[in-house]
Amino acid sequence: MSFKPAKWPRKLRSQEWFGGTGRDQIYHRGWMKNQGFPHDMFDGRPVIGILNTWSELTPCNAHLRDLAERVKNGIYEAGGFPVEVPVFSAAESSFRPTAMMFRNLAALAVEEAMRGQPMDGAVLLVGCDKTTPSLLMGAASTDLPSIVVTGGPMLNGYYRNERVGSGTHLWKFSEAVKAGEMTADEFLEAEASMSRSPGSCNTMGTASTMASMAEALGMALSGNAAIPAVDSRRRVMAQLSGRRIVQMVKDDLKPSDVMTKPAFENAIRTNGAIGGSTNAVIHLLAIAGRVGVDLTLDDWDRCGRDVATIVNLMPSGEYLMEEFFYAGGLPVVLKRLGEAGLLHKDALTVAGEPIWDQVKDVVNHNEDVILPVEKALTVQGGIAVLKGNLAPSGAVIKPSAASPQLMKHRGRAVVFEDIDDYKAKIDDDALDVDETCVLVLKNCGPKGYPGMAEVGNMGLPPKVLKKGITDMVRISDARMSGTAYGTVVLHTSPEAATGGPLAVVRDGDMIELDVPARRLHLDISDEELAARLAEWAPQTEQPTSGYAWLHQTHVQGADTGADLDFLKGCRGAPVGRDSH
Ligand code: FES
Repeated sequence: MSFKPAKWPRKLRSQEWFGGTGRDQIYHRGWMKNQGFPHDMFDGRPVIGILNTWSELTPCNAHLRDLAERVKNGIYEAGGFPVEVPVFSAAESSFRPTAMMFRNLAALAVEEAMRGQPMDGAVLLVGCDKTTPSLLMGAASTDLPSIVVTGGPMLNGYYRNERVGSGTHLWKFSEAVKAGEMTADEFLEAEASMSRSPGSCNTMGTASTMASMAEALGMALSGNAAIPAVDSRRRVMAQLSGRRIVQMVKDDLKPSDVMTKPAFENAIRTNGAIGGSTNAVIHLLAIAGRVGVDLTLDDWDRCGRDVATIVNLMPSGEYLMEEFFYAGGLPVVLKRLGEAGLLHKDALTVAGEPIWDQVKDVVNHNEDVILPVEKALTVQGGIAVLKGNLAPSGAVIKPSAASPQLMKHRGRAVVFEDIDDYKAKIDDDALDVDETCVLVLKNCGPKGYPGMAEVGNMGLPPKVLKKGITDMVRISDARMSGTAYGTVVLHTSPEAATGGPLAVVRDGDMIELDVPARRLHLDISDEELAARLAEWAPQTEQPTSGYAWLHQTHVQGADTGADLDFLKGCRGAPVGRDSH
């Protein structure tokens, strides 16, 4: 930690718009005054953008306008000037073809919103899965002081006195309906019990994972990740973050000061300890690419390999975010990592202190929720990175959500050329499949879907489910919802749509998965593989205009974060020419 606060007072970038008596300054300032701001608000105090992903079509973030008011209070209290700015909001639950296709668009919009407007720092008001990485990516590319405030998870769901987790139980219940164990009416009743309060998914899905990643990276105040959306302490957190960002601007404490390589290593280990989403792999790689940190898939395997999963939350375990909060939340996990020698203790946080100073005195209030290491859900809980002739650039699997007996498995491939092919065949009793087979789904990667949808946890064939089997090995170039589970190999790279080896797997091929050896192998000769790849031809139908074209032309592989190639890196926030 070598950060030295900048001198204060000094002239901030917002003064290029608001300071002085020239025609242009009067134009910028005068129009702002139509909102009733007194003249002294423009006196050089930090102008803080509250970048709000509120949207009624992003239900997980629908309460963020209320939270923004609390952030504003904090900014005013600390002598700043808050301005709430709506930014692109991609809802996981409804954006088509997938919210992931728009993560980079949102990041681009956020970056330009920060650079092109009179803002000295930003509060990133996020929640639903993609909103957190997209705003972190945009902020990283400007390197303006920024702090994350998440909306918090929903309260626990309960159906007939059983804990119901967002997403996790959706997959469970839909399999139960397919297996004939649940009626459609019961499914409907369960739906209503799943989402009973404002907030994001209450499991350790991608939203909770990314909230935890933001905190582990040092980009949110300590304890932010787990506070339920409706808990009054969520509002306190928002207000304190508002106060803090003003001081961060005065000190010039930037994302690049906080999101260093050690901070990313802390986040990777944290992901293993919480049993976090595989989506964090892609998002952290993309964020690192923006802030100029050299992070690779190999770092994920190296840092995560020996981390035990100690957070007993769905989908890997049994509890939900509400209980995680009552147990002490992420600070307890960070403390445990620190005690185990798995935390860079001096990594700087937005609080202006090393991460260890923030967590060293916290207490675990529930050892059923945050487990002692002897009772860990999985001893090697980090994301495993697989390599082999089927995934030369890598693939990932989440061991804590997989079946131990399938971690080494050899099986016959049952291949689906794309998601439509899968949907057309999977329920057909004539499909030649049993539980020893390996389901292979192609053309669901960043270019293939497009956008890399969360379809990797393919539902099992009904004839297998009816035998009481609940897991099979599944392999694809897709992603998987952080709320999902199973022995599911994801992000296989290069993806099928760009001619990766996955594209040439055929029905009946034998596939070997060996997670302990980190191996994913298609059991055909090198010559046969080369011959099949030489025959392969890309799909000719491609978008020719619009964002779909931009995405398709520039999106990179999952193994490097699936960012758009021209958006990588930090471009800073130079003040451009005036508009008149
Ligand atoms: Fe928004 Fe899960 S769908 S957080």
